[in-house]
Amino acid sequence: MLTDQDRIFTNLYGMHDRTLSGARARGHWDGTKDLIAKGRDWIIDEMKKSGLRGRGGAGFPTGLKWSFMPKESDGRPHYLVINADESEPGTCKDREIMRHDPHTLIEGALIASFAMQAHTSYIYIRGEFIREREALQAAIDEAYDAGLLGKNAAGTGWDFDLFLHHGAGAYICGEETALLESLEGKKGMPRMKPPFPAMAGVYGCPTTVNNVESIAVVPTILRRGGDWFASFGRPNNAGTKVFAISGHVNNPCVVEESMSIGLRELLDRHCGGVRGGWDNLKAVIPGGSSVPMLPAQLCDDAIMDFDWLREQQSGLGTAAVIVMDQSTDVIKAIWRLAKFYKHESCGQCTPCREGTGWMMRVMDRLVRGEAEIEEIDMLFDVTKQVEGHTICALGDAAAWPIQGLIRHFRDEIEDRIKARKTGRVSAVAAE
Ligand code: NAI
Ligand code: SF4
Repeated sequence: MLTDQDRIFTNLYGMHDRTLSGARARGHWDGTKDLIAKGRDWIIDEMKKSGLRGRGGAGFPTGLKWSFMPKESDGRPHYLVINADESEPGTCKDREIMRHDPHTLIEGALIASFAMQAHTSYIYIRGEFIREREALQAAIDEAYDAGLLGKNAAGTGWDFDLFLHHGAGAYICGEETALLESLEGKKGMPRMKPPFPAMAGVYGCPTTVNNVESIAVVPTILRRGGDWFASFGRPNNAGTKVFAISGHVNNPCVVEESMSIGLRELLDRHCGGVRGGWDNLKAVIPGGSSVPMLPAQLCDDAIMDFDWLREQQSGLGTAAVIVMDQSTDVIKAIWRLAKFYKHESCGQCTPCREGTGWMMRVMDRLVRGEAEIEEIDMLFDVTKQVEGHTICALGDAAAWPIQGLIRHFRDEIEDRIKARKTGRVSAVAAE
């Protein structure tokens, strides 16, 4: 359990001065020059020691990713690209950081870029984030005026420019290679990997793409030490973590907590519990729409970290916790997600383009009970043909929620089909 002293994003909890002077009062931009003077190897080692795993959803170790950037220059410039395209349904944690604590992100961008020998960094921000864009741009302008960005940034001897690039509303542009395409002015379509961005990223140059939260925690990790960050959470699941909790809780909120906190403790401590009490819980999607849901019986002892949730065939993903009580039509909830993924598929590869449409159409009928029982297995089989057979993770993201539904709520799907056949219930209308 995190105390207030352990929180990195104190600005989320009442200290709402997001200006440079407010940030300085909270300790940001304090001794940045000294941190950089410790050198690249020290910074990357400290990040590795912290155990930070990427906060965008995939959980790839951040220090390791940084170390993939070429050490020797081959003449190509290096880039840091910050993924602020937060579009995963249920996810609004980066939005809060950019709204309330933009300077932490900017300071992190400078330090991370220095460590990877990048003189330029881009923040690619979701098009719909208009207020956040204004807050960030105002903070970037302040930082330039104060000499914290630009030539000899923060007196470090490192020249560093930071640009804000606005997205245009496509979910797929949050996928790192689609984001790079979009940044280059092209249609946002994912690239095949490898090569990974560290070898050939934006404009074909070595690039690291990191999530907003991953970069915003960097200055505090370096000030307080990698060991301090690693002291939270279970081994391999270190650190503090920002959770966005929505749905059927008494007080939906965005909160920073220790990694590996129990789900029940998280909801009771910060959200006033499940609406109607814990016994009224039906299911939880623990990590944004791309991960399979957990039924209530698995929620009692659920641990909110990468490894525990993966063992349950779910995932921490973006740590967007979507709570559903007994009043929820879970079939309809997953049908809605199927519709979303069908809409957002870029159409580039066949299993995703055809599979998302196929899955959505079967879900369309399941939600009304207008299907045969055998189609449940057939649908599961289709999800398996999409999973792992596409260029980017959107195909998996479309398949997994349906797999979770069938795994845990098969009885409910069957009951609906049987009830429809016997005329016992009227159809549940799909909107
Ligand atoms: P990934 O596992 O393919 O890659 C994760 C990161 O590690 C990437 O930056 C990749 O370049 C790097 N990487 C992986 N293997 C590497 C290697 N061998 N060499 C060098 N670099 C390597 O996952 P991906 O597709 O980037 O992200 C999927 C996740 O994104 C999902 O789990 C989902 O939770 C999350 N997501 C988040 C959204 C949001 O709004 N934050 C939206 C949609 C999905
Ligand atoms: Fe496009 Fe879907 Fe293929 Fe990703 S998996 S490249 S979104 S068609």
